[in-house]
Amino acid sequence: MKTLVTYMTKTGNTKRIAEAIYGEITGEKDIKDIKDVSNLEGYDLVFVGFPVMQFNVPENVTKFVSENVAGKNVAFFMTHAVPEGTPAIHSWTCSCTDLAASGNYLGIFGCQGELAQAIIDMLSKSDDPQMKAFAEMGPSTKGQPDESRVQKAREFAKEIQAKVQ
Ligand SMILES: Cc1cc2nc3c(=O)[nH]c(=O)nc-3n(C[C@H](O)[C@H](O)[C@H](O)COP(=O)(O)O)c2cc1C
Repeated sequence: MKTLVTYMTKTGNTKRIAEAIYGEITGEKDIKDIKDVSNLEGYDLVFVGFPVMQFNVPENVTKFVSENVAGKNVAFFMTHAVPEGTPAIHSWTCSCTDLAASGNYLGIFGCQGELAQAIIDMLSKSDDPQMKAFAEMGPSTKGQPDESRVQKAREFAKEIQAKVQ
């Protein structure tokens, strides 16, 4: 059994979760930036990770999954600035189940990730009240994902792998 952990990251949070998942997986395995993956040939299980951006799954991730997931066991992981339990998270989860429709969807893990200071600074200057409110939430995300979240990601990895063994 061969597993791929692939991810997109802008500021390192999703990569941290990717590495935790990768560390927990047994058997043959690879970890790669999604930019470096051309197809999923040879993999029995794939974890796809991304940061939520503009209230959505990033377009390159959507494209990659919809083009490659047919017939594959796939699980997702995401990081987002909003706290776990925020209603919007449900729609990102649904986007992933939809994206994986031609594959075998195994589950999704999500956790809070720190909003980079440069983004907080940029959004604070926005005229859009939604963006401003988002910027105000930024400081409360500092240090995420913390060790307890990383540990949950490890547990998720084990649960998913157990589903395909
Ligand atoms: C351009 C941009 C847009 C973002 N949009 C959202 C968003 O809509 N909802 C959210 O919860 N977080 C949003 N975030 C926060 C990121 O999802 C979060 O900081 C994530 O952990 C970043 O992951 P990374 O370090 O792997 O890039 C956004 C971040 C950036 C840079």
